[in-house]
Amino acid sequence: MRECVIIDGVRSPNSRAHNEKGWFRLVRPDEVLTKVYDGLFARNPKVKPEDIESVFVGCANITGMQNDIGRLAWLAGGFPESVPTNTLTMQCPSGMAATQHAARAIMCGEGDIYIAAGIEDMQKVFMGMHMDFPPRLLERYNIADIPMGNTAEKVAEVYKISRADQENMAYWSNKKADEATKAGKFKDEIIPMEGLKEDGTPFMVDTDQWVRSDVSMEKMATMKPAFKPDGVVTAATSSPLTIGACALLLMERSKADKLGLSYSIKYEAGALGGCDPTIMGMAPVPAVKRLLARTGKKISDIGVWELNEAFASQSLACLRELGIAQNAPFDNVNIWGGALALGHPLGESGARILVTLHNIMKTDRKDAKYGVAALCGAFGNGGATMLSRVK
Ligand SMILES: CC(C)(COP(=O)(O)OP(=O)(O)OC[C@H]1O[C@@H](n2cnc3c(N)ncnc32)[C@H](O)[C@@H]1OP(=O)(O)O)[C@@H](O)C(=O)NCCC(=O)NCCS
Repeated sequence: MRECVIIDGVRSPNSRAHNEKGWFRLVRPDEVLTKVYDGLFARNPKVKPEDIESVFVGCANITGMQNDIGRLAWLAGGFPESVPTNTLTMQCPSGMAATQHAARAIMCGEGDIYIAAGIEDMQKVFMGMHMDFPPRLLERYNIADIPMGNTAEKVAEVYKISRADQENMAYWSNKKADEATKAGKFKDEIIPMEGLKEDGTPFMVDTDQWVRSDVSMEKMATMKPAFKPDGVVTAATSSPLTIGACALLLMERSKADKLGLSYSIKYEAGALGGCDPTIMGMAPVPAVKRLLARTGKKISDIGVWELNEAFASQSLACLRELGIAQNAPFDNVNIWGGALALGHPLGESGARILVTLHNIMKTDRKDAKYGVAALCGAFGNGGATMLSRVK
């Protein structure tokens, strides 16, 4: 098997998905995505767009402005027609699935240079837009158990995740994201792009909009349940609606050497896992278990984790089930904050947590030989990917 190294990974700032308050409220998702590509090529002048074998783009809701966004954005951005693009969905793990497809293609010799990307604009293409459930699915499951917030409530109930523990997790997610932002940790992964302040003033956006520097346990304790009147999940303990795009440049190792490109981290392995859609947030558990079993690794071999925080309830339940951690703050999970603070643009996040994991392994956790990124997705899909330090 050939080796797939990570040459670079970049992303947009994450904007709130809101008609009046979102910084990217007037920017189309294809523009956000191609600005990320522009940034990626500007940083890597030895790689030209025409050198790319193919682009894999993950997106959860491939409809409206996001219909075949992989192809349409590539063409709209002026990139070469000769480079094929594959838009793919797997709900939230889409961006990770795109990365896995690209890495596998490199490893099995189908091509040498790929872009793996993820995009979601949850304002202009809202969750569930144009959704038409198969009637037979609704015979199999209760429709009321399928929406994301309801699954988060069910996970909290089944796995006994208290509201206080969820709020503690949201507190630390914001604290760490705020500290990481202020320390400039995301500077190497964020491509600044123009947006609008709430008052309409244009400005160059270079940070994530949702991160709360003033996060407060007292305030969170007063918030109303978001999904059911007697529930324990609030807006603070749910990932917020977000706009964002992300892209990784992946290359076969000897090709990178020939081009004189530097790298220190490679794609080691990937796995997908499935579970009951009414507790979809637990899908990282089977995905991570498969990944570890197939690579012959133990939880203790993994130096650093990125686990997407779709909801605090499901992230905590996964961490406890896998025996990684009990409660925030965590030593080696989401050390620069997670989606509760940074946002979760569905199809983008699977690629984003890989970009962040790559950066963390290059900087703060140079001691980690292996890192794993994992996330859940609507309807019970999960993804997990292992990165490792090149020898
Ligand atoms: C939970 C959810 C319904 C809330 O959406 P919403 O009602 O539009 O609420 P917002 O996110 O705008 O938050 C409501 C308010 O609470 C505030 N708020 C949120 N978290 C807060 C916190 N930790 N502390 C203080 N205020 C907070 C928001 O800032 C907002 O106030 P503002 O408009 O004055 O800024 C929505 O975020 C959601 O559906 N999240 C889950 C998304 C999802 O399913 N993703 C897929 C997972 S697999």
